[in-house]
Amino acid sequence: MELFEVYPLYDVTPVSAKGCYVIDNLGQKYLDLYGGHGVISIGHSHKEYVSALSRQLGQMGFYSNSIKNPLQEALAHKLGKVSKCEDYNLFLCNSGAEANENALKMASFETGKSKIIAFEKAFHGRTSAAVAVTDNPKINAPLNSQHKVAFLPLNDEIAVERELSKNDVAAVIIEGIQGVGGLNEGSGDFFRSLEKLCKKYGAMLILDEIQSGYGRSGKFFSFQHHGIHPDIISMAKGMGNGFPVGGILISNSINASYGMLGTTFGGNHLACAAALSVLDIIEKEQLIDNVREVSRHFLKRIKEIQNIKSVKGKGLMMGISFDFPVSELRKALIFDEHIFTGGSSDPNLLRLLPPLSIGTDEIDRFVDALKRVLTRISNTKNSI
Ligand SMILES: Cc1ncc(COP(=O)(O)O)c(C=O)c1O
Repeated sequence: MELFEVYPLYDVTPVSAKGCYVIDNLGQKYLDLYGGHGVISIGHSHKEYVSALSRQLGQMGFYSNSIKNPLQEALAHKLGKVSKCEDYNLFLCNSGAEANENALKMASFETGKSKIIAFEKAFHGRTSAAVAVTDNPKINAPLNSQHKVAFLPLNDEIAVERELSKNDVAAVIIEGIQGVGGLNEGSGDFFRSLEKLCKKYGAMLILDEIQSGYGRSGKFFSFQHHGIHPDIISMAKGMGNGFPVGGILISNSINASYGMLGTTFGGNHLACAAALSVLDIIEKEQLIDNVREVSRHFLKRIKEIQNIKSVKGKGLMMGISFDFPVSELRKALIFDEHIFTGGSSDPNLLRLLPPLSIGTDEIDRFVDALKRVLTRISNTKNSI
């Protein structure tokens, strides 16, 4: 049997990883400024995380959601405290798409409506409703396209109110900071208007913090930069540092009923051990403070590079925009400088999602490497 090939692959085979570094099968070490799509929060193979997971696996890896699991309660309490979202309740699942699928379903149950407002260039995952609210027709099959969705421009309050006033909208879903779409974000005023308009027209506000959450923006959730209180918050990536775990925080004004949501694997013992360990380490190592400090250093150093159009994002969710496609640049960074970076649907944008534990030395190494690669690329172009 061969693999069903859906991913274009770089020719690198990582076999181990530690902190901000990944090592391939030939022993080459790479600086990881992409964290496997923003998943690695506390750093690769963190010692305490490895022992917490090993301990839990030796004790009990899994049992079903029909019995008591005190680890889920411990996780809810800890997450409420660390995220400062104590007035929400937690539902656990396994991935980002699944978190959004449940968030959208919750909103529809709660309002009795079915239309969703999403935004241009949004990415919310690949399951049925999550992909339907993703602004990319190429990854929507006819089955997914049956959902009622209005895609509106970011920061266009008038368009949002026009759509909401039709009174058939269950939810507005928005990324704290767009990831796949290229680091665009709503303004603080826009987020605050969304909150007000959703209340006025009885729709739920869903904040997709799957990529921008868990400290990545320099606050636990990126909406916390804007002082709003969403109805539902979805999260995944950084939550388990690579162990598949996701969840939604549901405002405690929304009532649960048995059977409304459910999952076999969601919130299993291993997933909870991973998520608890991540929160312990974020707290103990003050990683959110580190995000802010390293981000300030990055913003200072990146100014040394002249042919950058703009720098987008917040904290350690950063986009560097050029006036040319970055595919060649990314290849040179991997194969010549041994640095992993990411792309997005904007071909001219280099996306950085390093582990939250990264230091300023690694940023210095990246900026120096970027200068060398840009010089080499421009010399090659000039000599043609
Ligand atoms: C903002 C956002 N939402 C949802 C998802 C989907 O998450 P998953 O791939 O875990 O299903 C992603 C993944 O990149 C994302 O960036």
